[in-house]
Amino acid sequence: MKQKKLYLCILLLFFLVGCSQRTTEEIKKVPEIKIGLTAYRRDDTFINMIISNIQEEGKEAEQQKNMKVTMNIMDAKGSQTMQNEHIDKLIEQGCDVLCVNLVDRTVAATVIDKAKTANIPVIFFNREPVKEDLERWNKVYYVGAEASESGKLQGQIVVEQYYKNNTIDKNGDGKLQYVVLEGEQGHQDALLRTEYAIKTITEAGIQMDKLAGDTANWLRSQAETKMNQWLQLYDDKIELILCNNDDMALGAIDAYENIEKELPIIVGIDGTALAIEAMMQGKLTGTVKNDAEKQAELIFKLSYHLAMGEDVAKNMNLLREKYIFTKYSIVKLEEMTKEDGY
Ligand code: GAL
Ligand code: CA
Repeated sequence: MKQKKLYLCILLLFFLVGCSQRTTEEIKKVPEIKIGLTAYRRDDTFINMIISNIQEEGKEAEQQKNMKVTMNIMDAKGSQTMQNEHIDKLIEQGCDVLCVNLVDRTVAATVIDKAKTANIPVIFFNREPVKEDLERWNKVYYVGAEASESGKLQGQIVVEQYYKNNTIDKNGDGKLQYVVLEGEQGHQDALLRTEYAIKTITEAGIQMDKLAGDTANWLRSQAETKMNQWLQLYDDKIELILCNNDDMALGAIDAYENIEKELPIIVGIDGTALAIEAMMQGKLTGTVKNDAEKQAELIFKLSYHLAMGEDVAKNMNLLREKYIFTKYSIVKLEEMTKEDGY
């Protein structure tokens, strides 16, 4: 009997030792990924949407995959010099992957060379480097959306309005007098959005007459200032305001509201919460959704596979081994549900 008890005790001891070993092993096994991110400006509405969605993805992964996700997020505040310093810092601190929203999209080569020396993969997002730069190294990727597509969809909103509502051509001259609020010069989303919006409208048989166009750098306040000037120059002549993004569309609305003037057709791009609210209030005619959630999901997924040393090409749908583009879509209020948060 005594022997049996002793035998059982030894067995129990083995079992407990085994268990405690497994727990330490399990703790050791919890994977950790470190993401270093730098944004051209943290106060940009759309960039902020992407970043908060990436943070959400990180939290979800921690819960679902039993892992630790560390994110170091830097704000370059519109300075490429500061962004380069941030990149040096992130590399020095030892991150597994760098997510870069370039200030100046023409200087990607410098960033790539720094990352290559440290052997840290880079995911550029939203501000697309030129092809030649992306080809400098095979661990460089780009997540974004096709600018031309957003321009086409924005154009379609105008076309639909034009044929639905014959009061758009206020002076009845058979042409649409318009102004354009452009994004930053040199940004892939500025020139192409304007070009394709105009192309779509004219191809639908509508004649266009440009009154003015200028950059407002994606910013609501700059757009308001520009619009104030144009209102003094053109006043009631303006029948359409094409805006390369929603914040600038909101700035244009501000200018009209300040002088309590009736709003013309105004279209934006991004689908921000404030833009959708303005649509619901009948101030903004329409907008195109730039899919921040999907882009964030893909940036995070890509970061995860790269950090874990997994084969990215096998796990994700890459275009030309480097690119991932999300789709734009026209925001339709009647299709919005409570889950969209509106
Ligand atoms: C665009 C977006 C703009 C602005 C810009 C910044 O894609 O539509 O609102 O965020 O990126 O690079
Ligand atoms: Ca007209």
